[in-house]
Amino acid sequence: MIARVRAARRLEGEVLLPGDKSISHRALMLNAVADGEACVDGLSAGADVASTAGCLRALGVQIEDGRVAGRGLAGLREPAGPLDCGNSGTTMRLLAGLLAGRPFSVTLTGDGSLSTRPMDRVVAPLRLMGAMAETEPLRVGGAAPLRGVTYESPVASAQVKSAVLLAGLSAEGPTSVVEPAATRDHTERMLEAMGAPVAREGRSVTVTGPVDALRPLDVAVPRDLSAAAFWLVAAGLHADASVRMPGVGVNPTRTALLDLLEAAGVRVARLRPRLAGVEPVADLEVGTASKGRAFEVARTAAAELIDELPVLAVAAALLPGASRITGARELRVKESDRVSAMTAGLAAMGADVTELADGWEIRGPRHLEGARVASAGDHRVAMALAVAGLLADGETEIEDAECVDISYPGFWDQLEALCT
Ligand code: S3P
Repeated sequence: MIARVRAARRLEGEVLLPGDKSISHRALMLNAVADGEACVDGLSAGADVASTAGCLRALGVQIEDGRVAGRGLAGLREPAGPLDCGNSGTTMRLLAGLLAGRPFSVTLTGDGSLSTRPMDRVVAPLRLMGAMAETEPLRVGGAAPLRGVTYESPVASAQVKSAVLLAGLSAEGPTSVVEPAATRDHTERMLEAMGAPVAREGRSVTVTGPVDALRPLDVAVPRDLSAAAFWLVAAGLHADASVRMPGVGVNPTRTALLDLLEAAGVRVARLRPRLAGVEPVADLEVGTASKGRAFEVARTAAAELIDELPVLAVAAALLPGASRITGARELRVKESDRVSAMTAGLAAMGADVTELADGWEIRGPRHLEGARVASAGDHRVAMALAVAGLLADGETEIEDAECVDISYPGFWDQLEALCT
């Protein structure tokens, strides 16, 4: 499908964002191995979370209308065939960790994009723990018991951290992960709330196994801040905009985006701050920035903004001054090579963008012109280029636009509803 986007005269309205993707995956997986039934409300309806639910069903877990019938850590059943993780790196990596200590082995497969993404980053620590783990295809399990280790992760990745911690639930003794830069902590929060012995100190987190049982945890999934990012940039950079988004997750490991936008002149109001279980949420409100300016993302900061960088690149093209986004080499191994996909899309629309090995240098402000651009089948690239289209002259055509369904079904309808 090709999506056609034109400049909006005004952007106005309330957006009900999808449930947070990261929290949805974890709410399903952790409750699947809890002892009893839990209710998960507001799950992401995206294809990635459906992949997780499908894999868990194949492992014998009943999931229906957000009710998850936990089978206990030892209760997962050997699946009849390979588990299909679709396009979802989180599904594949977290399940690899969760399944590494099972007495049976499991093959995890995915689509063309996922099959090319690096899995050695989870295989290496799992092997250190004594697990059978191999790549191409990814296969884990069948060699329990595992032993706890201290793993200094070479990449700042919440998926790697979570995979090791989930394996640690069934390992003998403490399993620690030390990260090079802080990443989202949803796994730690949820494990603590389910009664697992988790200790945190600086960039190190430890779970001490084997954990006999996890308490089922009802979860009210916050709406996804990484999805909000598209409207925050669109509204902030638009000349006449006012957008409200209720119930958005504002976990401090995710809100570097709001601080960065603030520094760039886009003020986001956080109203009615409250807790949804173990996760902070707030209603967000954003309007036209009064005086925008270029920004810098360097080194470790990129890890906290990783999913928002494509749309921040769009902002950089329109803000006055030279913005530099570096330290983001990880973007090259996401659902697509997001560095080159965004360079190509923005350049086609007239942006002044230089591709770096680990990011971009982007000089603004540039007048963007509508063009035909490739999403590379990557949901975040498609949505970032749609935002560019809202802020450009003429018509922007985005190819393979259906890929937004990975994290944000309804994106195109909501975009239309906001435009007046
Ligand atoms: C995620 C972690 C990040 C992020 C992805 C979701 C998670 O990936 O890009 O969209 O839920 O843990 P990495 O851990 O590979 O950085």
